[in-house]
Amino acid sequence: MKLTGNTILITGAGSGIGLALGEEFVKLDNRVIVAARSPEKLKVAKSKGLETLKADLCEAGSIQTLSRKVTQEFPKTNVLIHNAAICKLEDLVQGSSPAVQEEMIATNLLGPMRLNDALLPHLLKQPSATIIILTSGLGFVPSAFYPTYSATKAALDGLTRSLARELGPRQIRVNSVAPGYFDSDMVSDMAEEQKRRIARRTPLGRLARIDDVANAVHFLTSDQASFITGQTLVVDGGITC
Ligand SMILES: NC(=O)c1ccc[n+]([C@@H]2O[C@H](COP(=O)([O-])OP(=O)(O)OC[C@H]3O[C@@H](n4cnc5c(N)ncnc54)[C@H](OP(=O)(O)O)[C@@H]3O)[C@@H](O)[C@H]2O)c1
Repeated sequence: MKLTGNTILITGAGSGIGLALGEEFVKLDNRVIVAARSPEKLKVAKSKGLETLKADLCEAGSIQTLSRKVTQEFPKTNVLIHNAAICKLEDLVQGSSPAVQEEMIATNLLGPMRLNDALLPHLLKQPSATIIILTSGLGFVPSAFYPTYSATKAALDGLTRSLARELGPRQIRVNSVAPGYFDSDMVSDMAEEQKRRIARRTPLGRLARIDDVANAVHFLTSDQASFITGQTLVVDGGITC
């Protein structure tokens, strides 16, 4: 797929990697649609030249509405990037919180599954289409503090492989990108000392940068990856190797 002239839907792209990716794709002459729930984040995305649709990715009804709007208003949508996620601290020894677990599973795992289901009939009609899922190094080496988050990301890597098998014969490639820690709203409460500790444990000696992750997504979206499907590209400086 050429990295220009596409119509790209990125979920949760009002901040962090999603927004950075969206801006980069717009610079390359693609049309980018951001699906996000926060009006402030939608405003930021709009100010950077991205199209916006309001959607709450943890609500099945909202995903149906989003999918309808995408197919009606952006009928050439051919790239789907699942990026929206939440990551909440848990302490299972103190007691689990089913509400927190359910919210993470609904957003991180059911959200992409439901959106795939809703948009697949549309993607199958496009001359060229691809799906990328943002997962996490924690899907490989889980954290004791983020058990549900780690489990949702591991499940998404499994979903990636399953979808790749299902959609390969229709020439839709499906891959995931699993970043290590990088600075964003999601890790804003992480102490500086903790970041330094992670950097010290990382063979390449630092946290990921947003452009490290964006480059991996660009590669997997592009023609350079035309024979790559069902893979997870881990972008973590070697911390999980
Ligand atoms: N930062 C890291 O260290 C790291 C490491 C590995 C993987 N990742 C993955 O990278 C991806 C991007 O994360 P990021 O670090 O760029 O963090 P981020 O800035 O927090 O981006 C996540 C976005 O998803 C949105 N979102 C969450 N729940 C939503 C919902 N129900 N409906 C619509 N939008 C929703 C958030 O907006 P709201 O304000 O509405 O919640 C936020 O804008 C995620 O999949 C994350 O798991 C991040």
